[in-house]
Amino acid sequence: MKDEPPETKQTTAMRTLFESNELQAVLRVKYLVQDGDGIYYLRKGRRRQVVQVSGNRYTLAPELLQKEEQSERLPVSHRKKIKILFEVVRRVAEALGLKAVPYQDFGDGASQTQRQVEEPYPVFPEYFVRPSSEAADYHLSDQMRNSLTTVARLVEEGEKEVILITGPTGTGKTTLAEHFAFKLNRPLFIVDCGAYNDALNFFGAKDLAMKEGRQVIEWVEHEFVTAVETEKAVVVLDEANRLHPTYLNALFPLFDHRGRIFIPGMARPVMVAPGVTFFVTMNLGSAYTGTYQADSAFLDRMTRHLETNYLDPEQEKRLVVERTGLPTLHAERLTKLAARIRELAAREDPLIRMGISTRQILKTAEYMLRDRLNLEKAVRSTFLNNYSSEGGASSERATVLQAIQAVG
Ligand SMILES: Nc1ncnc2c1ncn2[C@@H]1O[C@H](COP(=O)(O)OP(=O)(O)O)[C@@H](O)[C@H]1O
Ligand SMILES: [Mg+2]
Repeated sequence: MKDEPPETKQTTAMRTLFESNELQAVLRVKYLVQDGDGIYYLRKGRRRQVVQVSGNRYTLAPELLQKEEQSERLPVSHRKKIKILFEVVRRVAEALGLKAVPYQDFGDGASQTQRQVEEPYPVFPEYFVRPSSEAADYHLSDQMRNSLTTVARLVEEGEKEVILITGPTGTGKTTLAEHFAFKLNRPLFIVDCGAYNDALNFFGAKDLAMKEGRQVIEWVEHEFVTAVETEKAVVVLDEANRLHPTYLNALFPLFDHRGRIFIPGMARPVMVAPGVTFFVTMNLGSAYTGTYQADSAFLDRMTRHLETNYLDPEQEKRLVVERTGLPTLHAERLTKLAARIRELAAREDPLIRMGISTRQILKTAEYMLRDRLNLEKAVRSTFLNNYSSEGGASSERATVLQAIQAVG
């Protein structure tokens, strides 16, 4: 079978690589030049080769490969740029059907790089987080499973989904979003909204930099921008109601049909890449200090609202046993206690203000193992003090202690 002439294919490949939206999104095009069979990037006035294409093969340039090896010694920002560059070139080249060859073999075609041993979760550039191992064994209620299956189908078909997850603290909101990314093999990026006082700061900030020996103020882009501009990324705005609604509302253009947002200080709009899925997590309710009530305009932007809740005792017991190795009988006592506390908290006239989270239960299970399975001792060192001792014998704390006696 005769291939098309290598020149033509090569030229097309080069052009596609060079013009790829992805490359443009992660690296400003002005830093890249195309010349002959190579793409180069400019740094400190010097051209450094990124990639060389010949026929249907490509190689990453040796200078950069070397840099990658020595990357421990490079500044983090530079290391990131190189990693992104490599990742994107590899992905684009693969999509074009180009084969990677090591530099020394480039040209003779004698050998090809061995494919790396397949990892269960793909390796994304380092600013994406790897879902925690807990995300893999997430326990879904039937209803949640159905909802997630629908969402997965829609987003795989290219629908834009902005999913609100609400529920009491420690019931697996963040882990649910991680689980979703894990299941669909998507790059995951989590913004901890509580760490910001203005959503615009997600995108970047003005910072001092040195230019030609002088201090200048420069816009420094944050990784959030790369995340929303990465195709099929799962972007989680975690604990979004720790931000004031005014700031959250500034994000509307990201969520709706516009899919692009202009940020003061940034020279270009931020464009949401195709297939990006947003998850927004919130604790709704008055028990959460330092949070805001979501406003209706915001809720209106959400395409879907999922609610996490406490696992039923049977599921929670299985989770505890699997996760911690606590013997079943003890796991049963512990999860019974949890159910009891939650029930007391859910009453019309509650004896206890707050239920107990799965997070606390898992922690208590670990302490039980450490404390030779003594439930009360473990509870005393984990969550007991979260319950007020005000009111003596009828206090929240006394009620919890009674509940411990009740589960035997
Ligand atoms: N349904 C679940 N299946 C598996 N683990 C869960 C589940 N719900 C909560 N967890 C565990 O409880 C802890 C808290 O979950 P997290 O997602 O941080 O809660 P939230 O974001 O709602 O505060 C994590 O260790 C998580 O793995
Ligand atoms: Mg969370």
